Amino acid sequence: VSLKNFNTFGIKTYAKYFVEINHEDELQELFADPQWLQADRLVLGGGSNMLMVADFNGLVIRMNIRGIEHRINHNEVFVEAGGGEVWNALVNYAVDHSYAGMENLSLIPGSVGASPIQNIGAYGVELKDVFYSCHAFEIATGTFRTFTKEECKFGYRESVFKTELKGQYIITSVKFLLSLQPNLNLKYGAIEQELNNRGITAPTIKEVSQVVAHIRVSKLPDPSTIGNAGSFFKNPVIDVDKFDVLKTNHPDVVNYPAGEGLVKLAAGWLIEQCGWKGKVVGNTGTWKNQALVLVNHGGATGEEVYAFSSQIIDSVYSKFGVQLEREVNIIGQ
Ligand code: EPU
Repeated sequence: VSLKNFNTFGIKTYAKYFVEINHEDELQELFADPQWLQADRLVLGGGSNMLMVADFNGLVIRMNIRGIEHRINHNEVFVEAGGGEVWNALVNYAVDHSYAGMENLSLIPGSVGASPIQNIGAYGVELKDVFYSCHAFEIATGTFRTFTKEECKFGYRESVFKTELKGQYIITSVKFLLSLQPNLNLKYGAIEQELNNRGITAPTIKEVSQVVAHIRVSKLPDPSTIGNAGSFFKNPVIDVDKFDVLKTNHPDVVNYPAGEGLVKLAAGWLIEQCGWKGKVVGNTGTWKNQALVLVNHGGATGEEVYAFSSQIIDSVYSKFGVQLEREVNIIGQ
């Protein structure tokens, strides 16, 4: 089965076996067959956070469980969505119903079921700020369990599903806690600026959503025309002592506080300073408006993009002594 249409990088690769799951029961049926318990597995949502570097010689499980339900309790709104729902469709549902909390997460590609895995985030809000719980299938036991927010151990682009429990569970639905009373997060400079440009002083959640969408479209390439997986690297977090040295040598280094004794750097800035912004190298390169995004200009192979990303890592390391870490999942290595 070709995976070209199942990864937003638009890389041409193949999976040996492919199954689509439309209902929770189908997971139990699937794993009742021991052959699939032993096979290499790749669980796919929107395929928006991965780079395939080789064909996948195992079973690809495409999650397509649908449905959105809500329950209102005073000012609180619980919204539960199937893991196969498109993330942005859920955001639009919330915004259209005036359920507040997700508006800053507008237009993030990918699926609802994938959203907790790396605690997606943008423009001052992270998934964990609206997450209530999720329902997940434990492959080894064939049983379902609910994870609370604490149990997910969310961090910056991190959760228990990427660390201790990696590969062990398949998320089938996610429950969110939203509010009828907006608590807008407008801290992010570009949001403030765009609201100003539009002459909006008391924005609605719909306006915030529109402004965020506008900012994203202006900075990030649309995967339907230019293959990409959003930020390719994480923003590196370093300790303050190391940062002080860096700042002495590079006084304008872009940085944010990241908790006690820690500083987060803008990987896009580091990459741009190394001269990579907008560079085209073969069929790949970095995006002209956002150096943190690697793109497929057409016909790139996964190996080619991967090799290019290694070149960036090396060059940032030799200029700044900072080690970039890939944020996308590398599949087939
Ligand atoms: N910058 C540059 N050059 C660039 C890009 C960025 O100098 O080419 C500097 C600028 O100073 C800019 C700063 O870096 O102000 C931050 O850039 P931006 O606001 O675009 O955000 P980011 O830190 O590069 C992160 C997330 C994005 C998210 C944005 C907005 C990560 C890895 N990425 O990017 O998430 O949309 O913030 O909140 O944390 C993703 O994860 O795929 C993703 C797109």
